[in-house]
Amino acid sequence: MSGTRKLWGGRFTEAPDETFAEFNNSFRFDKRLFEADVRASIAHANGLRRAAVLTKGEANSIIGALTQLLDDSRIDFKFFDSNAEDVHSFIEQKLVEAIGETGLKLHTGRSRNDQVATALRLWLREEIDEITRLTRELQSAIVDTAEGFQKVVMPGYTHLQRAQPVLFAHWCLAYFEMLKRDRARLADAYERVNVLPLGSAALAGTSFPIDREAVAKELGFREVSANSMDAVSDRDFAIEFVGACSILMMHLSRLAEDLILYCSQEFGFIELSDGVSTGSSLMPQKKNPDALELIRGKAGRVFGHHATLLAIMKGLPLAYNKDMQEDKEAVFDTVDTVKSCLSVAGIVFANIKINEHRMREAAESSYMNATELADYLVRKGVPFRTAHDVAGKVVLRAMELKKELDEMPVDELKAISSDIDEDVFAILTLENTIGSKLQIGGTSSEQVGQGLKDAREYLTK
Ligand code: ARG
Repeated sequence: MSGTRKLWGGRFTEAPDETFAEFNNSFRFDKRLFEADVRASIAHANGLRRAAVLTKGEANSIIGALTQLLDDSRIDFKFFDSNAEDVHSFIEQKLVEAIGETGLKLHTGRSRNDQVATALRLWLREEIDEITRLTRELQSAIVDTAEGFQKVVMPGYTHLQRAQPVLFAHWCLAYFEMLKRDRARLADAYERVNVLPLGSAALAGTSFPIDREAVAKELGFREVSANSMDAVSDRDFAIEFVGACSILMMHLSRLAEDLILYCSQEFGFIELSDGVSTGSSLMPQKKNPDALELIRGKAGRVFGHHATLLAIMKGLPLAYNKDMQEDKEAVFDTVDTVKSCLSVAGIVFANIKINEHRMREAAESSYMNATELADYLVRKGVPFRTAHDVAGKVVLRAMELKKELDEMPVDELKAISSDIDEDVFAILTLENTIGSKLQIGGTSSEQVGQGLKDAREYLTK
């Protein structure tokens, strides 16, 4: 265990209450920021050297020790055994253990307030990259599946009632689109994460001539924050990130729900691989879609983190307040949850079995071509509202006769509307119902084929 030297002991005469210390300490979770904080500390040391606050020798000694800490942390499994208050004090302790007095100079011109904001942003930048990569992989699995089953038809639903037939690939590409928007939102959030708060110090800025732009450049930040009070108390970037993740998780939960329905005996459209299913301890026949149910459930957990962050920040006076330490676990758990859900969704998708026959059977029934009949009448000059009414009457009669529309005797059809002729049967086919949706975004194989091409092209970027 490292020592317990405090960063702020000077004006205190009594030791901290133990219960409070445990309550106050964040090291057990913010140690995840270790690497980011060391990298930011190295850039800060360079900044102090350029400002001639540190000599070259002092800066080198600090940077050498910090670099060594990074190496040690990777091989020494007891490295993080410490009762440090937080990751920032932990690093300073380790530094002073390694090089003595010189280590105490690193904190010149900075505060944990700008430090923690910097470390969290640095850390989050990499995690956003990783989440983006995993989202892309899921998109890729979706497109692979869609391409493999380009001719497969299925019912499309509204109100979970059979509505109009669509291509299975069309359904796949709907989720692809959602994930495209998610990536755009993450990229946008990244831009606002990518701003350097370091140099804002506690809240008022620093009196040492540190070139903040040079520090930003060294750490790869797009720009430096414009207002020191805002910089140390801004967690918009975290809220925005978790917000983008909430929408992403909402999409994954809808994907999960569709697939959970589709693999039920009632639908029977797909089968999940054994690898992502579980059995029942009681019912030997069961195969349950736990992977998807967990994704659906974990969406709620991420929404909760979003609400947590907003609630923490609401009404906080400027500038830094300790309330803000509560942001970490929400952000960390969001990252872990989203990453695991994306990975599992990708595996589920890559191994899905499609029951083409059941899907077609469902797509051919339930009068899902009734809109085609109405459109047919419109082309014969009947106003749509009237055509809709006629088609409705035909459906009613067909239900009485227990027939699908294309099985109706033509006389029955003519009895309802004299505008209906033999040529109606050509438009009532499943092929025409789907194939006629030729406008951009429609479910015809031409449009879906174009959608698949565009998706492939997007994935190469
Ligand atoms: N552990 C703190 C946090 O996560 C670091 C900043 C503490 N600053 C302070 N003045 N107490 O917010």
